[in-house]
Amino acid sequence: MAEHTAQTYSLAKEKIKFLLLEGIHPRAKAVLEAAGYTQVELRSGTQSRADLAEALSDVHFLGIRSRTQLDAELLSKAPKLAAVGCFCIGTNQVNLSHAQQMGVPVFNAPYANTRSVAELALAEVIMLMRGIPAKNMAAHRGGWLKSATNSNEVRGKTLGIVGYGHIGTQLGILAEGLGMHVVYYDILSKLPLGNARPVNSLNALLEQSDAVSLHVPATEQTHEMISTEQLQCMPKGSMLVNASRGTVVDIPALRDALQNDHIAGAALDVFPAEPRTNQDEFISELRGFDQVILTPHIGGSTMEAQEAIAQEVADKLVRYSDNGSTMSAVNFPEVSLPDQREVRRVLHTHRNEPGVMQQINQVFSHYNINIVSQYLQTRGDIGYVVMDLDGSNVNGLMDELREIPATIRCRVLY
Ligand code: NAI
Repeated sequence: MAEHTAQTYSLAKEKIKFLLLEGIHPRAKAVLEAAGYTQVELRSGTQSRADLAEALSDVHFLGIRSRTQLDAELLSKAPKLAAVGCFCIGTNQVNLSHAQQMGVPVFNAPYANTRSVAELALAEVIMLMRGIPAKNMAAHRGGWLKSATNSNEVRGKTLGIVGYGHIGTQLGILAEGLGMHVVYYDILSKLPLGNARPVNSLNALLEQSDAVSLHVPATEQTHEMISTEQLQCMPKGSMLVNASRGTVVDIPALRDALQNDHIAGAALDVFPAEPRTNQDEFISELRGFDQVILTPHIGGSTMEAQEAIAQEVADKLVRYSDNGSTMSAVNFPEVSLPDQREVRRVLHTHRNEPGVMQQINQVFSHYNINIVSQYLQTRGDIGYVVMDLDGSNVNGLMDELREIPATIRCRVLY
């Protein structure tokens, strides 16, 4: 492996360096080592910019979580960087387009914490239906609210799920296991799991639900999709759970609905503005409501999710390093490749310009090399072509491929 600009690289596994920062779960190291990679360094905490720049000078694969900011300047200090693994959900901390221009795919684990969020949402529905948050708060103050009034089992109640994706579907299955009726609303037509029933408008879902749980992404359409009108559609005494994104609920509208007892309880894990660190104050109009559960955006934060993330991202890095697969990269053409068998595999990343493929194929015909199979994908300005070759010495060929002006990277796997 060598320079990222128009260079050819191919290294034995034991020479490939992985640096994993921010206390990534040790499962990642175990996965990499089981795949034969011995140079795997785990560091806890974030690095200073200077330390990171120094470390990046000879790292081939970098693993980060959400706090390491990989901007263009830092990326340009990483001449050998082959790929970045974000061991988390988001990838905003990386300058994705700069990484793309360098031919560096970025991977993440967008759904590894699905189950954790679904479990929390269900637990909150149960707690809210029993009125536990207010009873708990009273007990902390020396009160004793022993009463069955407004305390209900979830069995036989209707749970309305808004956004029937990865989390929404899991939640639906778990809720049915407790005997709940599940209805859902999604903008896409989604196959119902179990006995869940689709409902064709948001308001229709809200009208028939004893509790509503939100599992939509933050988009223009979902911005404050739960506001005064929607809260009024919900039956008096119903509950609202939001562990999706903070902008989905109009907080002042929810505050009013709680104040006038129309909504009997709510659980919020996400907020329009969240503290940046654990040292910053959490400010919200919902503070002080005994019937509201407030949690600090930890819906997906469990040890199991951390381990699942470590497994998933490390697997993706291994697949890319071992056979060139880029499936689910967030900034790169996605190519899913079979394992190579008795062939040399050439991976070529190039600027997506007219005529590049013709130049590449000319090099192969010049060397009289037979291409057994070829996989090409483009994404924006970048093209990624993988070619399996019939035996033969590829050294001179790699030099010629490198000389094609649009070449960004070129690597051969033996
Ligand atoms: P997903 O992409 O699998 O599912 C989202 C679903 O919402 C899709 O089926 C989509 O069609 C639907 N949808 C989009 N716009 C809609 C609209 N206007 N009305 C109705 N449905 C709409 O996403 P996933 O993984 O289920 O995550 C859901 C949310 O949970 C996301 O906002 C994600 O950021 C959040 N999340 C929160 C976590 C936490 O710690 N609290 C952890 C993980 C995810």
